[in-house]
Amino acid sequence: MTKKLYISTYGCQMNVYDSARMADILSPLGYSLTQDPTDADMSILNTCHIREKASEKTFSELGRLRNMRRDKQSEGRGDMLIAVAGCVAQAEGDEIIKRAPYVNMVFGPQSYHKLPEMLAETARGAGQVLDTDFPVEPKFDSLPDEAIDKNLGAFLTVQEGCDKFCAFCVVPYTRGAEFSRATDDILKEARRMIANGTKEITLLGQNVNAYHGLDKNGKSRSLADLIQMLAELDGLERLRYTTSHPLEMTEDLCKAHRDVDILMPYLHLPVQAGSDRILEAMNRRHTADEYRRIIDKLRHYKPDLALSGDFIVGFPGETEAEFEDTLRLVEDVTYAQAYSFKYSPRPGTPAAGLDHEMIAEDVKSERLARLQKLLNEQQLAFNKSFEGKTVPVLLEREGRRDGQLVGRSPYMQSVYVQSPPHRIGRVAEVIIDEGNANSLRGQLSPGNAQDAA
Ligand code: SAH
Ligand code: SF4
Ligand code: F3S
Repeated sequence: MTKKLYISTYGCQMNVYDSARMADILSPLGYSLTQDPTDADMSILNTCHIREKASEKTFSELGRLRNMRRDKQSEGRGDMLIAVAGCVAQAEGDEIIKRAPYVNMVFGPQSYHKLPEMLAETARGAGQVLDTDFPVEPKFDSLPDEAIDKNLGAFLTVQEGCDKFCAFCVVPYTRGAEFSRATDDILKEARRMIANGTKEITLLGQNVNAYHGLDKNGKSRSLADLIQMLAELDGLERLRYTTSHPLEMTEDLCKAHRDVDILMPYLHLPVQAGSDRILEAMNRRHTADEYRRIIDKLRHYKPDLALSGDFIVGFPGETEAEFEDTLRLVEDVTYAQAYSFKYSPRPGTPAAGLDHEMIAEDVKSERLARLQKLLNEQQLAFNKSFEGKTVPVLLEREGRRDGQLVGRSPYMQSVYVQSPPHRIGRVAEVIIDEGNANSLRGQLSPGNAQDAA
């Protein structure tokens, strides 16, 4: 008998990866995914703790699930197990158990491989199950072989956790210390992905460029080494990695952008702020000029590299002049794409204690609007610069309109193109007609047209 599993995923790609693994782990137990929580036999909230009011949102989502369970039960449609996973579970597991006694399971990002045991415990009537242990390795060791991403563009976690302790960030507390998987395990997972049709792999880690996994001789290898190894795999067409920290942007890794042809010319390299004083208060451990020099080096090796970043405005104590340093940095670097946020205090982080220096909400909003205006202009200009050019696009799926496919350029842009569906899964040369704020539009170059449609 198949049971229905509903997973709601918040937060970063790491959670997206974890949710897919949970589904894979539960599939041998008869669970198949549904988009409809009202009918689920098990619902998992895979939570993120990075934003303000994350735990409040979790509790209100849980309340909704509880109502759905009640309806299900009263209509005689069976029961629903409710589980909380991810970073809110890790950080506030005890609180969830206390405040939401109707929740069956609470487990952190490092313990979901024990889902079958937790299910068994629940079935035995063990009451609420809480597992927020930290060791990382056992999770990867006990993922079933089938538990791999089977998408055309797939994610592969190579590194987890973070030892950087930026003053605003919860990740070191929710994901734990830095851990790198062994190169052989990663290569094995990558080969299986490729055998299943994956063409593009994105290596994932909270601090992916701090990767230092062991190879089969017990030697520590860098992300640049790992990229070289993966580039030798037959059938892999594209490689990316995210998210990186400026401090770990080594010469080797910068050079890999020149030397490894399947490494895509796109890099997400968050800087957060452009003022040295704020960078120091954030504990980012580099200056704005050091970041500029890293960008120069990257562009020296890979002139067409498209850059993306993360920014925080209104960090405690940020003055107008310091905020303008951020604008200046953005002007100097020029981003193809970016994420920007208003600072919000996360309980337990050092910056959350800077009460008397908190920036007023309206000031933060005004700064964010100015920063986003500049970033949006840069993004539009970047996309417009492709008009008339031909770019290789990995066609991933059908678009909403008839006869339309959607894919990605090497620079991470979404590209909409009129194309027969049999081209899905292949890289096609596309002539760009239009560069818009969030995507490109184009048509297949005649050079592609030899095959039977
Ligand atoms: N590991 C990645 C991502 C961390 S979280 C990295 O080091 O870049 C993603 C982004 O969320 C951060 O880069 C930061 O810009 C933002 N962020 C994290 N904590 C925040 C907070 N307390 N307030 C506002 N933005 C925050
Ligand atoms: Fe958070 Fe900083 Fe670590 Fe990124 S590097 S996960 S922002 S502590
Ligand atoms: Fe959020 Fe956890 Fe990722 S806090 S950003 S889901 S590591």
